[in-house]
Amino acid sequence: MPNGVAGFFIIEYSPQHKRHNILEVNMAQKTTERKILVGISGGISVYKMCTVVRLLKKSGARVRVVMTRSATQFVTPLTFSTLSQEEVSVSLWPGDAHSSTDLGVKHIDLGLWADAMVIAPATANTISKIAYGMADDILTSTVLALRCPLIIAPAMDVDMYLNSATQKNLSALRERGYFILPPDEGELASGLVGPGRLPEPEKIVSFVEEVLKKIPRDLTEKKILITAGPTYEPIDPVRFIGNRSSGKMGFALANAAALRGAEVTLIAGPVSLQTPKNVNRINVETAEEMKRAVLSHSKKADAVIMAAAIADYTPAHPAAQKIKKSGEAQKGLTLEMKETTDILKELGAQHNGALLVGFALETNNEIKNAMEKLRSKNLDYIVLNSTRNEGAAFGSDTNIVTIIGKNGAKEKLPKMPKFDVATEILHRISKKLAAKSKKTAR
Ligand code: CTP
Repeated sequence: MPNGVAGFFIIEYSPQHKRHNILEVNMAQKTTERKILVGISGGISVYKMCTVVRLLKKSGARVRVVMTRSATQFVTPLTFSTLSQEEVSVSLWPGDAHSSTDLGVKHIDLGLWADAMVIAPATANTISKIAYGMADDILTSTVLALRCPLIIAPAMDVDMYLNSATQKNLSALRERGYFILPPDEGELASGLVGPGRLPEPEKIVSFVEEVLKKIPRDLTEKKILITAGPTYEPIDPVRFIGNRSSGKMGFALANAAALRGAEVTLIAGPVSLQTPKNVNRINVETAEEMKRAVLSHSKKADAVIMAAAIADYTPAHPAAQKIKKSGEAQKGLTLEMKETTDILKELGAQHNGALLVGFALETNNEIKNAMEKLRSKNLDYIVLNSTRNEGAAFGSDTNIVTIIGKNGAKEKLPKMPKFDVATEILHRISKKLAAKSKKTAR
């Protein structure tokens, strides 16, 4: 099988039976026993979902389908219940023709039942409702109750997709930790050409597989403390000294750890990112507040990951009132700064048993500086990123890092989304924690 390909299917169209037949299923990691919830909203590409459901079933997964009323205009629930061999939910209310009777509170039960949910096609309307937390049908209500990864495959006409309202909603969903499968480009139902086509069923199923592979449930019962974002150090009541950290790396770590089942505390500096699901967020502003929060929450942690860009210096005497211009151009303003506590160094010195992971952002002598931090702060890992790397800029959604272990082993990773960097870091933490538990069990 070619590298990077999660699996493949051979599908033949039978004109005689007017349907696609699956001749071969060859998946790298089968969805066996996985419970996949398929959410379908109303668009012309609903027909492709018949094959998606079949492929998921063929791969060994249990599949349940929820549909919006509009989706039922394109393909009937009966088709999906036949293909999935499960009842299809189209309403929150009992007594509905297609609703299942064996479930208690349906959307809650479905949300707890699923190992992953995939919404395809996700219309502009459904995307917008999810972005705003609406729950006016079975699909959107289930999304709110969901505890598993959510995959969203937008499909709509090109102008609707490119509209800034839709793009803003999609960014919000991405930030919240949902996985977006971008639409394909091509001819659309309207005859217009551009992005908006629902990807082919094989691509959707492969994407689901990839997401599931990234999220093993290997951190249940583990407590992970993560810091993110910058700190703001006050000069006076209206001004501060800050830095360019976006917080995206720390939030990606929090999201990935929570999806793997960890109990996550995220101590965040001033950023406007949305809190990932099942993450306990504590907002702080200054390095001093960050220190207090970290020291009090690190006691019970199995691992501490310090992705925050904490100020090394803070104004020694912040003014109680707004500093006014002196009016004399030559006079200028001099601030006296004092050093803040190096929180990670303090944790390293305490040696309380938690795994410690630091980040090092360097502009030069990268490896040497990072190794020095690893040693002086007594860390298990240091994650090095350089400002010289393209694709690792402040605020970027991707990162290029080298992970250096306690023993000095260096692993340079290619450019990848921050969620994937988080996944790589958590793989290593998970292995170390598992080895540690084995040792203590002996
Ligand atoms: N860190 C910390 N407390 C501080 C400063 C940094 O805990 N007051 C942590 C960061 O969260 C990061 C690691 O230490 O995980 C390295 O941070 P970095 O700013 O790269 O290094 P510094 O030790 O501050 O050294 P320098 O700024 O001189 O490179």
